[in-house]
Amino acid sequence: MPCSYVAMLLGKPRVDEEALAEALPAAQRRSRGAFFTPAPLVEAVLDAVAPHLPASGPLTVVDPAAGAGAFLHRAGERLPRAARFGLEVDADCARACQGRLPGARILTGDGLREGWDRLCVELPPEGFELWVGNPPYNGTSAVLKDKAAYRALCGLLGDALPPGTSLREDYAFFLLRVAERLSHRPGALAFVTSATLLDAYLYAPLRAALLERLQLREVFELGDGVFRGTRVRTCVTVWTRGRTRGAVAFRSRSQKGPFDPSQLSSPRAFTPSGSDWLLRPAPDAAAALDAQWRAQGELLTTLLPVHSPGLKTRFDELLVDDAPEPLLARLDAFLSCPPRLLEGFAAAHRIPERHLPKLLALKASDDLPARAEPERVRAFWRYAGPRHRGVIPQSARAFCYLDRRLIPRGDHRFRGPWDPHAHPVKLVFNTRELPLSAALLESPGCVHDHRHARFAPLFVPRLLRDHGLAAARSGADLGDEVPNLSMRGLAWARGHGGPLALFRALAAFINSDPVQQVWAPAFGASRDLPVPVARLPPAH
Ligand SMILES: C[S@@+](CC[C@H](N)C(=O)[O-])C[C@H]1O[C@@H](n2cnc3c(N)ncnc32)[C@H](O)[C@@H]1O
Repeated sequence: MPCSYVAMLLGKPRVDEEALAEALPAAQRRSRGAFFTPAPLVEAVLDAVAPHLPASGPLTVVDPAAGAGAFLHRAGERLPRAARFGLEVDADCARACQGRLPGARILTGDGLREGWDRLCVELPPEGFELWVGNPPYNGTSAVLKDKAAYRALCGLLGDALPPGTSLREDYAFFLLRVAERLSHRPGALAFVTSATLLDAYLYAPLRAALLERLQLREVFELGDGVFRGTRVRTCVTVWTRGRTRGAVAFRSRSQKGPFDPSQLSSPRAFTPSGSDWLLRPAPDAAAALDAQWRAQGELLTTLLPVHSPGLKTRFDELLVDDAPEPLLARLDAFLSCPPRLLEGFAAAHRIPERHLPKLLALKASDDLPARAEPERVRAFWRYAGPRHRGVIPQSARAFCYLDRRLIPRGDHRFRGPWDPHAHPVKLVFNTRELPLSAALLESPGCVHDHRHARFAPLFVPRLLRDHGLAAARSGADLGDEVPNLSMRGLAWARGHGGPLALFRALAAFINSDPVQQVWAPAFGASRDLPVPVARLPPAH
């Protein structure tokens, strides 16, 4: 952060916190999640936690990812008796923050690694601790690349992460760290975070652990646009020491854009429960539909026993093109190119220079064919979620060269000799992710990997349907092709025009108003969709 610019902004009577963050280079803002909190939101967070602070006695306010000090500055004005501490990974930013807050102690360090202990040893041993802030949420925490640190932080969860879940955002680790600290001292925690904390499937174990270790007092669901230039959904959660038992106050705002406290709804009480531990109440209509559909049917992922993520070539620049001819020509050129000439090959085919190591690694394989094989060129549907609701348009068709030997690091989606893309009809859908969407693909080709989208072929080998995808690797006879449906699905298909009719009905159901308008906003991010199979109307 250019210190002179910060100094200039800080010299103003009312600081525009967001402008301070905008002074940082864009890449740094993204990687560190540097979006400083606008003053009205800081105020609302401090208002929300105020009733949980002791009226007297020693008080320490800590922001473990302090940025330019938005929270510590205002906390100093509102709570003059408090000692204030901040930690900030960016040295320039920490310096600017210290300059702004001479009465506080600002350390430079990484709160998820070495900086945490250095911060904690400086905190006064006695008294009440108030942890505040807006720790980064960037989806790709730097800690993910540091195996030892990641393991240690995940260890704070207590139980191992269930398969298919992970912690991916820094704020999750900051929450766990503070929760652990407050398990043995009086204190409170009020953080602005991504709203993924409230409802993302991935974070169900995090929610469960936090609810067990802290008492959740208040939730604000802020929607998107609170931070200038972003569309991230955010929330505020206020916690105190203890376990969560009983009702929590929930407030939301329906407006988008800059935050104003008058936009918050009146509080509504809810009790976090269920296996997904949502930190917001579900509207009655959504809860009723969920219960009814569960009673009448089964989960979409049970109804379609075989389904997998789309194809990830891991090298689209080499292996995908809009037309088959240039694709084959490029593959031929690559296969016949000696390693020392690969740089020229990349330049001639507009493959960015950064991919040269990938080209060299592929070339080092002793298993490559001498020539490109035309039968390996397949249609490749660039499915784009809700943009392709219902059907995937012709304009989304590209071509890929599908040869497992040319996919860097292989592709875990392939099991044994079975080709999941081979059947021309597939239902493409996503699950535990918003917006939910489905499309029926009725043309041959591979489905590409789009976010959490999965695809279910209409027919699959009997062994896989009955024993799961892992059986493909067993070497056993896979059996004849059968409809990719559960017993209930088969029963529906028998009475309503066959498996394809059910696939059509499922696409229509997923895209229908009751799912999209009622069920998905409440549960779409955290639960598998239950399908009332017995009552499913045929699609027209
Ligand atoms: C979203 S900003 C919030 C700053 C300030 N608390 C506020 O509310 O305006 C997050 C800040 O955390 C810093 N940060 C990112 N990762 C960090 C880490 N591991 N340890 C300490 N600070 C970190 C970033 O540089 C950035 O200044």
